[in-house]
Amino acid sequence: MSRRRRIYEGKAKILYEGPEPGTLVQHFKDDATAFNRKKHAQIEGKGVLNNRICEFIFQHLNAIGVPTHFIRRLNMREQLIREVEIVPLEVVVRNVAAGSLAKRLGMEEGTQLPRSIIEFYYKSDELDDPLVSEEHITAFGWATPQEIDDIMALALRVNDFLTGLFLGCNIRLVDFKLEFGRQFEGEMMRIVVADEISPDSCRLWDMESGEKLDKDRFRRDMGGLVEAYQEVARRLGVLSGSEQQSPPRGPVLVQ
Ligand code: TMP
Ligand code: ASP
Repeated sequence: MSRRRRIYEGKAKILYEGPEPGTLVQHFKDDATAFNRKKHAQIEGKGVLNNRICEFIFQHLNAIGVPTHFIRRLNMREQLIREVEIVPLEVVVRNVAAGSLAKRLGMEEGTQLPRSIIEFYYKSDELDDPLVSEEHITAFGWATPQEIDDIMALALRVNDFLTGLFLGCNIRLVDFKLEFGRQFEGEMMRIVVADEISPDSCRLWDMESGEKLDKDRFRRDMGGLVEAYQEVARRLGVLSGSEQQSPPRGPVLVQ
């Protein structure tokens, strides 16, 4: 049991008060939801895998100078993060037509886009996260024009990094969602990557077979979600040999 103060509970994560001012603990649950909670399940082992995959990606982003809220992993399900003020946008970067873009524009899933496309969705469960333009964002004060510039530049750097990272594991990065936060340091404010990057928030297709290695397996009732996330972790080198064999039962063994 935890006596820590719970700051926020989302669909797949909980934020607790951190050990020092300006920090939080981000806890990854096993819950999977889709279509704004219309679909919900517990998928044993998902939280542990996402914590590890997210740690791996955020550590690398920090190392190449893309600022993130990530400080360090604490245990199997938790990481220490910097407290930030979340910009109320879901920022989607797309390289290949899929999901809502394919549907909206009548494109065949899998069509390579002429260039990477960034989309903004306003974070609102009541409204089902509607697609919005930069005009809406600045007019309603969700972010300033400078912040939008920073967000777009960071989103493209994350895309370049992740595309290469996954290419090296024979995985096609189709699209992914980012969230950003304002980190305050005295008088200074900077935009950092926040929330998570994991197979919950990306579309990842095996380069040869096209097999889906992401949350679409849950959204589309395909099954095998934990096995797919394990495969991503294995290819990234996040899981050691003995952990690759059996699907997780209860807590997964991590190094
Ligand atoms: P979409 O095609 O459904 O708009 O999704 C685009 C990308 O964003 C895809 O990689 C999944 C991710 N995503 C989230 O992480 N959270 C969400 O709530 C939605 C709708 C999509
Ligand atoms: N995360 C969103 C939900 O829980 C939607 C999604 O990822 O498909 O409904």
